[in-house]
Amino acid sequence: KEDKINKLNKRIALAHLGGGQKRIDKQHAKKKLTARERVNYLMDEGSFEEIGVLVTHRTTDFGMENEIYYGDGVITGYGTVNGRLVYVYAQDFTVFGGALSETHAEKICKTMDLAVKVGAPIIGLNDSGGARIQEGVRSLGGYADIFYRNVQSSGVIPQISAIMGPCAGGAVYSPAMTDFTLMVENTSYMFVTGPNVVKTVTNEEVTSEELGGAYTHASKSGVAHKTSTNDISCLEDIKTLLSYLPQNNTETTQKLDFELKDEVRDILSDIVPDNPNKPYDMHAVIAGIIDEDSFYEIHKDYAENIIVGFARLGGRSIGIIANQPMFLAGVLGVKSSKKAARFTRFCDCFNIPLLVLVDVPGFLPGTDQEWNGIIVHGAKLLYALSEATVPRVTVITRKAYGGAYDVMNSKHIGADLNYAWPGAEIAVMGAKGASEIIFKRDIAAADNPAEKLAEKEAEYADKFANPYRAARRGFIDEVILPKNTRRKLIKAFSMLENKQVDTPKRKHGNIPL
Ligand code: COA
Repeated sequence: KEDKINKLNKRIALAHLGGGQKRIDKQHAKKKLTARERVNYLMDEGSFEEIGVLVTHRTTDFGMENEIYYGDGVITGYGTVNGRLVYVYAQDFTVFGGALSETHAEKICKTMDLAVKVGAPIIGLNDSGGARIQEGVRSLGGYADIFYRNVQSSGVIPQISAIMGPCAGGAVYSPAMTDFTLMVENTSYMFVTGPNVVKTVTNEEVTSEELGGAYTHASKSGVAHKTSTNDISCLEDIKTLLSYLPQNNTETTQKLDFELKDEVRDILSDIVPDNPNKPYDMHAVIAGIIDEDSFYEIHKDYAENIIVGFARLGGRSIGIIANQPMFLAGVLGVKSSKKAARFTRFCDCFNIPLLVLVDVPGFLPGTDQEWNGIIVHGAKLLYALSEATVPRVTVITRKAYGGAYDVMNSKHIGADLNYAWPGAEIAVMGAKGASEIIFKRDIAAADNPAEKLAEKEAEYADKFANPYRAARRGFIDEVILPKNTRRKLIKAFSMLENKQVDTPKRKHGNIPL
């Protein structure tokens, strides 16, 4: 009997050693944790239960029958994060460089299937040299099995990917189809083809870091939603992100204890400058509204003219979309529209109410924008918000001009409550531009055209650069003092808690992609 127990323990000990101490040391020398260390750090202490620890590959080509490692390069299982069930898979770079074999993929798929059946988030910790080269198409089939499950799980359970090492070739498409991709700075990279292939095909000289490092994907491509300085901070970021999310699409997020007091925030009164052309930081407005220090920003360095992220308001998890006047005056462009549309759809999938803060002078003009399809990308945001059935509340802090007024969660596209601050300007365009067009003849005929323009501009501004025309039509439900915004919103989202919308039966809509 002892012998049988020893046999088991020996195998488990071998599995825990992954590719061996030498390779573990190499991993540490690169300032990376091992897969097992990552899983143990992510999960509540002692909560991790491994599944498939004794799985090995079945390859016999290239002498692979003599290279057997228990677990086959991926640790899979379940446990809890802050008491909530989650599933995890973590690729072990010490075993064949974390390369994905048929059995490695089977383990991941088994975990994904369980996560969907039970209804709990799945977290993938990626660190892999890609397809297991010795296995050929079986390994490619394994990727496709994972991709297929990513899609079937989309909008059912939250899927989070962390990139903590290489992620290249086909491997990139699983993270790309999950809800959030977090990358570790300096130790991770993602690309479809690496620097050598790029050099051969396009003659460009580029490093891995430039081509697909964390900073590149966080600022240029938008592939990464967040970056972290090291493995530990990345795992902490995942835990924090999870705290804003429900377990699955049939649940809502956990509401923290909260007692409504007066909730007046005077600080909100002085953020927006009197001069409509002066920028201000919309982050200050967000901080003034939400529960203290609760903002978790997504895509911080990508399309900075719009801010998106999670926060708590009166203990409730909400998603925030906000124009940022500090960058490009807060206009909507190709990237900002895509960023906000994707975030909107995530929140709508997972029953997270949306707060939209508006200060938008319109869409970004120019050939670059038009040729890159601002029409279709702007339409994404319009479509995503129109389609969202979660509670939706809008606050116009200053400008809401033109088509962008419609897009930014206007009443007309299904928002539940629309507020404006007293300084809001809701109009087709700014007073100057409008006057130049509609009073063109008057101005040209005037003895002093500049004076005439100023006079007409003032006249137009007096009529339209305010929230009252919209309020009279009911397009704005209430004009509120900035300092009362937090209180109004807490009450609004509480009132909307049981909102239900039946949508027409259809296979799925056809969002402009
Ligand atoms: N299949 C099988 N084994 C692989 C592998 C793969 N795709 N990628 C890496 N490995 C193995 C290496 O043979 C090495 O084995 P060893 O420990 O027995 O020496 C180990 O993983 C570590 O790889 P190594 O190249 O030493 O690590 P590195 O940090 O210097 O480089 C990569 C990492 C990912 C850049 C490099 O391994 C690589 O280019 N791999 C191939 C990537 C690829 O083209 N994949 C297939 C297409 S998706």
